[in-house]
Amino acid sequence: MPSDSVKIVKAKLADEKQILDLERRVWSEQNLSDVADKYDLGSFIRFGYVFVAKHQNKTVGAIIAIRTNKDDVFVGDWVVDKQHRGKQVGRALYQKLMDSVKGTSIITLVSSRYKTSVAAHKKLGFKEKRLIRDAYGVGEKENYHLLYRKNGGMKNDVG
Ligand SMILES: CC(C)(COP(=O)(O)OP(=O)(O)OC[C@H]1O[C@@H](n2cnc3c(N)ncnc32)[C@H](O)[C@@H]1OP(=O)(O)O)[C@@H](O)C(=O)NCCC(=O)NCCS
Repeated sequence: MPSDSVKIVKAKLADEKQILDLERRVWSEQNLSDVADKYDLGSFIRFGYVFVAKHQNKTVGAIIAIRTNKDDVFVGDWVVDKQHRGKQVGRALYQKLMDSVKGTSIITLVSSRYKTSVAAHKKLGFKEKRLIRDAYGVGEKENYHLLYRKNGGMKNDVG
């Protein structure tokens, strides 16, 4: 468990700006921008599964997921601020998601550039299904790991 000063809670629309700021901070480390759109994020908070890690009222971690057309849960983003990494905050975010979608398999796509995330997912019980080139159809050359954590059956396979 992370330290008592970090609390994992379901995100509210009022958290949206802080989540977007966190995603920008984390993904700018990889020179990525445009990772989330404010309307998409608002929809995920309202209709999907978004949990945040709060430390002294600041959002220092988030996990963003939706239920898919095949009734699995897809994790679209999982981020922890640099200074809070390696302290079980990411695990606690995943645990909260798993607890709230009990009985549902979880899938995610992780770029092979993010070795930390691939390793962390494996420690969290994820298995590798296969590699997918340009998984989001945006013209990237890199491969993505399709990872899944079975909880019942896994119905999705991205073609
Ligand atoms: C991936 C990320 C969210 C993990 O968050 P975190 O709070 O550091 O993770 P935790 O401390 O809870 O660790 C979770 C598990 O992953 C493992 N892990 C964490 N960092 C690791 C690393 N660098 N190498 C190998 N394993 C690692 C931990 O050992 C832990 O497993 P354990 O509890 O069995 O020991 C965080 O590193 C991050 O935001 N990275 C940049 C953004 C990113 O790559 N996001 C993933 C997008 S798909």
